[in-house]
Amino acid sequence: MDLLVNGKSYEVSVDAERMLLGVLRDDLGLTGTKYGCGEGNCGACTVLLDGNTTRSCVTPVVSAAGREIITIEGLATGDELHPVQDAFIEHTAFQCAYCTPGFIMSSAALLSRIPDPDDAQIRSALSAHICRCGAYGRILRAVKTAAERSGRAEGEQR
Ligand code: FES
Repeated sequence: MDLLVNGKSYEVSVDAERMLLGVLRDDLGLTGTKYGCGEGNCGACTVLLDGNTTRSCVTPVVSAAGREIITIEGLATGDELHPVQDAFIEHTAFQCAYCTPGFIMSSAALLSRIPDPDDAQIRSALSAHICRCGAYGRILRAVKTAAERSGRAEGEQR
């Protein structure tokens, strides 16, 4: 089957019922997407499927075939990090960082949908992500910073 990941086409011969997470990590070598609970409960494996956040640990690979898959490796534009990635670094919005790719993917999806979210909208968008290190306060600040910067950049383009 054909997978379109981060703008690149891959022809993979895999069992259609395998989970997308395993194919991304083990077959395509895209290990930025993490295995946490394996049950759809922690958010570590979050990727974008046609722009929507998706738990790749519970998504059969066949359901992702022919759709646009974006992983953490595909979020930057060339050498330029996504504003959410920049803000996470600036605020050190992580400790062990295992959950970070998932948080970043959901934050990026939120900002593409709602460029200027309030705290409640950010909390709601990230509520199903678990950070075992408890960096939630810094994560919230990072997303707010990214939103402010994105808003400014949009304003400058007008
Ligand atoms: Fe997929 Fe936890 S590893 S939600």
